Amino acid sequence: MWPILIGAILLTYVGCDQNKNIIYDDECYPSETTVSGTYAPSCTFCSGSLIFAEEFDEFNLQTWEHIFDPNKEGFYTLVNSRRNSFTEDGVLFLRPSISSDQCATCKTNPVVTAAIRTTKSFSFRYGRVEMRAKLPAGDWLTPALWLLPASSVQYGPWPSSGHISIMHSRGNRILLHNGKNIGIQSANAGLSYGISQQSALIQNQFSRINESGYNRDFHFYQLEWTPGNKYNKP
Ligand SMILES: *[C@@H]1O[C@H](CO)[C@@H](O)[C@H](O)[C@H]1NC(C)=O
Repeated sequence: MWPILIGAILLTYVGCDQNKNIIYDDECYPSETTVSGTYAPSCTFCSGSLIFAEEFDEFNLQTWEHIFDPNKEGFYTLVNSRRNSFTEDGVLFLRPSISSDQCATCKTNPVVTAAIRTTKSFSFRYGRVEMRAKLPAGDWLTPALWLLPASSVQYGPWPSSGHISIMHSRGNRILLHNGKNIGIQSANAGLSYGISQQSALIQNQFSRINESGYNRDFHFYQLEWTPGNKYNKP
């Protein structure tokens, strides 16, 4: 009785992809990934199926919410302006500008730039993420792709609830620390959490070097996040 029942469940199991098309697949096993958000699949999906993709053929501002932070202390201000964030030929550009070029008399941080997130449209736990990106070169630039908790209430505000850095780098063409190049030749990844910003614990932090620089061409940045394990391959 039991083997027949289990066999029947496996044969009738179906999944769906990110466009909510039903996939019938003999090899479909329920994924361990859980999702939420307005662009997340609302049906069950198979282990290994694509559940979210963005080719940036257009800039969908329903998917991508700008982090708007006009009063941020520091040297940059985050804005939602097509001067600083736009798509062109299937590429998303995040481009900083000098704020004095826009308003000479404004009392504002010297640099204006953009950061976008999918907090409301798509969040997930466990799975594989791949990003193809070409990093910007130049002093003061800090490109990054992070996973942050969709809600920070679980253990408290950043960094208590943790963050996973799939990629972070520095744009400096020449920046040495203990003889090692830590600028645009270095792509870094890792998992951080801690009880306060001052004492953020860094775990599993590592770098990969490309001597010609990560600004020269597009590279793949990948994360595999599984229930028991987490590792990055920049
Ligand atoms: C470094 O990046 C370039 C592209 O910018 C690529 O052709 C080259 O293979 C990379 N080198 C290594 C060691 O990964």
